[in-house]
Amino acid sequence: MALEKTLILVKPDGAKRQLTGMVFDRLEAAGLDLCAAKVVSVSEEHAREHYKDLSDKPFFENLIKYIRGEFHSIRNNKILAAVFQGEDAIKHVRKVAGATNPEEADPGTIRGSFGRITTDGQFENVIHASGNREDADREIKLWFKAEEII
Ligand code: PPS
Repeated sequence: MALEKTLILVKPDGAKRQLTGMVFDRLEAAGLDLCAAKVVSVSEEHAREHYKDLSDKPFFENLIKYIRGEFHSIRNNKILAAVFQGEDAIKHVRKVAGATNPEEADPGTIRGSFGRITTDGQFENVIHASGNREDADREIKLWFKAEEII
């Protein structure tokens, strides 16, 4: 096991439905250590950079609108970003989050409890969690300055 850091985002559906506290509660209860958090106004450019590996997916344009809060009337495109640290934190956070597809997520996970798929096929899965070490390093650098991580 290795000590890792990973990025999470509470997505606009999570913010709109007042699930931010629940997300932090579940991650802390799982033993993960919060080491950075802030509210960010997500520009179009930032959203596209974050999801750049998915730019050829059919759902890409909606993913950009979703993360910028355009489906949830989020003022100023604001979103909560955080870094959690722990042993095997990347896998651990993804386990607490549950499967990407909310219909496949275990009922006890964040996405299994609170995620949904809209009638248009958009996943509203409450949180983003880095997928692997490479993504975690890239994403943490994209969302946080080094001095913001304690
Ligand atoms: S893929 O297709 O395997 O590359 O996708 P995956 O790694 O499972 O998911 C990457 C992110 O895309 C989001 N996603 C979707 N959004 C909207 N609609 C559909 N159908 C859809 N499928 C995947 C998914 O939530 C992932 O976003 P993050 O922020 O990483 O959770």
